[in-house]
Amino acid sequence: MGVGLLGSYGTLLAMAGRYLYPAHPDPKAWIYLAQLDQIPPGQALEFQTPLGSPVVVARLGPGQEPEDFVALSSTCPHLGCQVFWEPQNDRFFCPCHNGTFDRQGRATGGPPAKANQNLVRYPLRIQGHSLFIQVPLEGPTRSLLQSDQHTA
Ligand code: FES
Repeated sequence: MGVGLLGSYGTLLAMAGRYLYPAHPDPKAWIYLAQLDQIPPGQALEFQTPLGSPVVVARLGPGQEPEDFVALSSTCPHLGCQVFWEPQNDRFFCPCHNGTFDRQGRATGGPPAKANQNLVRYPLRIQGHSLFIQVPLEGPTRSLLQSDQHTA
């Protein structure tokens, strides 16, 4: 019995160690997104990560620095509808329940603001006249997320 108990504790400790100290962090990669002039100031483009997550990339200013752009998940954190950039209102908008987000993806109105649910932000980098986005290469794919929502 003592050996079995020792084995159980050993397994539990090994699992806890892998959780607390993963062998390597989640892999990410920089991916080419667009030429800078393909996104005029005030406009946005839609993008899908290799895992199928939809992203909206908006150009907030006329400059050519990463701060002149923002890349946010376009999946609303409330119930998963698609969020759109509204340049005329300088905000991101979710039409399902009138959720609103500021230009940095912080929830400002509707159910996401009440639950303090912001949009996930992706890092951007500029090289020359090209815009790159950093995306995860592992994790749940969009299709798995969708099937989870149907079964929940
Ligand atoms: S799904 Fe976006 S506000 Fe409800």
